[in-house]
Amino acid sequence: MPLDETVEAFEALRRAGKIRHWGVSNFDTQAMQTLWRTPGGEAAQTNQVLYNIGERGIEWDLQSWLRTRGVPVMAYSPFDQGRLLKNAALQAFARERGMAPAQVAIGWLLAQEGVIAIPKAGHADRLREHAGALAKPLSKEELDALDGIFTPPEGARPLAML
Ligand SMILES: NC(=O)c1ccc[n+]([C@@H]2O[C@H](COP(=O)([O-])OP(=O)(O)OC[C@H]3O[C@@H](n4cnc5c(N)ncnc54)[C@H](OP(=O)(O)O)[C@@H]3O)[C@@H](O)[C@H]2O)c1
Repeated sequence: MPLDETVEAFEALRRAGKIRHWGVSNFDTQAMQTLWRTPGGEAAQTNQVLYNIGERGIEWDLQSWLRTRGVPVMAYSPFDQGRLLKNAALQAFARERGMAPAQVAIGWLLAQEGVIAIPKAGHADRLREHAGALAKPLSKEELDALDGIFTPPEGARPLAML
């Protein structure tokens, strides 16, 4: 369906009280610009994209584009679907601090301005572990150390997605 018709349908649902808000997913900067030129498009409340400490491509331009317009990033697959939690460097970093790797991965996202993370867990104990990240915020020094392990992008690249 063309974007303008989709936006109009979302806005009609919103006016009818059927939905409170709507957003988009896997929109790169160019797609967001197109959305902003579409009537009603500026009502989008978030862009859900792949973003985690191991996949930082959006930091090149999309993140700042969204931040400037007050649109939060909704970071999906914050553990890269579990693969990130097996990363030896992340495991060592977490172990040194008495944290779980998942807590470091979530804590890092929580430290990013304008980011909402949507981790998935199929077990209550994991959910409790994730929530524990709130009680262990990462310091500036820890965030700097993580930048040395998981480096920010050095150029534009296509939006990563799963
Ligand atoms: N918009 C999109 O295109 C898009 C694409 C992909 C995903 N998403 C959304 O993103 C959300 C989550 O992403 P996701 O499920 O892809 O990936 P994720 O949250 O990065 O990872 C989930 C995986 O990590 C495992 N896990 C979670 N906590 C763990 C822990 N403490 N220790 C070890 N393993 C752990 C889970 O296992 P258990 O489940 O067994 O606990 C599950 O296999 C979902 O809401 C999904 O709908 C959106």
